[in-house]
Amino acid sequence: MPIAQLPAAASTSRSATSGTVPPRSSARLVDGDLVIGGVPATRLAARFGTPCQVVDEAEVRRRVRAFREVLPEAEVVFAGKSLPCRAVYGWMASEGLSLDVCSAGELAVARSVGFPAERVVLHDNVKIAEDLKAALAYGVGRIVVDSFDEIAQLGALAGPGQRVMVRVTPGVDAHTHRAIATGVEDQKFGFSLASGAALEAVRCVLEQPGLRLAGLHCHIGSQVRRVAAYEEAVRRMVGLIAAVRSSHGVEVAELDLGGGFAVPYLPGEDTFDLVGFAHRLRVALNYECAAHRVPVPRVLVEPGRSLVANAGVTLYRVITVKRGVSRTFVAVDGGMSDNPRPALYGARYAVRVVGRPTPLRRAPATVVGRHCEAGDVLAEDVSLPADIHAGDLLAVPVTGAYHHALASNYNLVGRPPIVGVLNGETRLLVRRETEEDLLRRDM
Ligand code: LLP
Repeated sequence: MPIAQLPAAASTSRSATSGTVPPRSSARLVDGDLVIGGVPATRLAARFGTPCQVVDEAEVRRRVRAFREVLPEAEVVFAGKSLPCRAVYGWMASEGLSLDVCSAGELAVARSVGFPAERVVLHDNVKIAEDLKAALAYGVGRIVVDSFDEIAQLGALAGPGQRVMVRVTPGVDAHTHRAIATGVEDQKFGFSLASGAALEAVRCVLEQPGLRLAGLHCHIGSQVRRVAAYEEAVRRMVGLIAAVRSSHGVEVAELDLGGGFAVPYLPGEDTFDLVGFAHRLRVALNYECAAHRVPVPRVLVEPGRSLVANAGVTLYRVITVKRGVSRTFVAVDGGMSDNPRPALYGARYAVRVVGRPTPLRRAPATVVGRHCEAGDVLAEDVSLPADIHAGDLLAVPVTGAYHHALASNYNLVGRPPIVGVLNGETRLLVRRETEEDLLRRDM
C-alpha cells in the first residue's frame, strides 16, 4: 500500500511536492508549506494558534485498513492510550476495530462515543475498584488480569461469565527503551511465565465462578523493531498454552500478542515490517501449535503508535532564537508539556520550517521549549535554515501517538488543541486548554 511521505528535513526555496524519505505520513510540501490532509500548516496555525496538534484522519484510516488487510484473521485492538480522544475512538469503532482502555477515564471516552462494549478490552497492572466497576457496568468484552489480588477482587465483583485474559510476562527482550520494555522478567507487569506464576494465575481464574478464561495476553514492549521478538513471544506463549492444557485440562482459545510495532521518527529509519510480521507470526504459530498438539488460538494484536503516530504533526511558533557559545537555541511556544518524550525516552524528532521560502544555507540548532527546565528540549542538534528567526512556523512530524496522551499542564501552560484534517477540511477535535480549565479544579 503506497503511503505518501514527508520529505526529509532538507529544505530549499523551490517548490517541492513530493519526497522519498520517511517519516512516512500523508503530509506533503507544497511551495514551502506543509499540507496535511489537504490543509496547509500556515492556515491551521492562523486559525487554531500554536502549538497545535494536527491529525490526519485519512492517514489513520489508511493505516488501520492496512493492518487489517495484512492480518485478516486477527482481532485488531487499538491501544486507546496512544491517542485518547472521542473522535479517534469513533474512527476506530467505525473501522471495526476493538479498543484497549486502561482506566475508567479512557473507558468514559469510549462510552461517550458508544464504543461497542464487547469490543473493549480493559488493561493495566493496577486497576482500582472504580476501573473494574466501570468496566463491569459497561459490560466490556474482556478484562486482562494482572495480579492475584485482582483475580480475587474481580471474581468477587463480576457476574457470571466475565471473560478475562491472563497477562503473562514471557521473558522476551524486545530491545527497546528500558521504560517501555514490558516483556522482560522482574518488572511490574504480568505474571511471570518462567516462575510458574502465569500457570498459577490461570488456575486461580478457572476457580472463580464469575470468570471465564478467554485467553492469554502478553505485550513485549513499545517501539519494537524486530519481528523476531514477537516470534519468540509466540514460541513461549504456545508453550504456556500447552502447559495450561496439560495442567488444567483447558484449551486456550485466544492469544493476545499486544502492540509495540515500531514507527520511523526520523528520515532514514526503517518501517516495521508488518507483512513480514504477519507471515512469520502465522508460520511460528502453526509450527508451535502443531509441535505441542494444541489448536491454533485466535490472535489479537493491539497496535497504538503504528496506527496514529505518523498521522500527527505538531506546529509550533518560534518565539526567540538565542545564539549560545557553541549552540543555537530555537525556543518555541510549546515544549515538554506537550511532548515529554525526548526527556522520558531520549526520543528524537525531525523539525522543519514551513510556510516561507528558506535559504539553502543551513545550521545546526537545538529546539527548546518554554518550560523552566534546561532539559526542556524538543529536538537536539537538528539542521534548520541559517536565517531562522522569531515568528517562523515549525512543523514536527510523527506526533500522533503519546503526545496528547502524555501532555501535562506544567507551568500551568494550557495543553494544545487537536485539529483533525480530512480531504482539505478541518475539525477541532479537542480544544485548547484555557486558564478557566486550569482554575476549575483549584478550590
Ligand atoms: N498493549 C498494551 C498492553 C500496552 O501496554 C501498550 C502500550 C500497547 C498495547 C500499545 O503499544 P504501541 O503499539 O502503541 O507501541 N509512552 C510511551 C509508550 C508507552 C506504551 C505503553 N503501552 C512512548 O511515548 O513511547
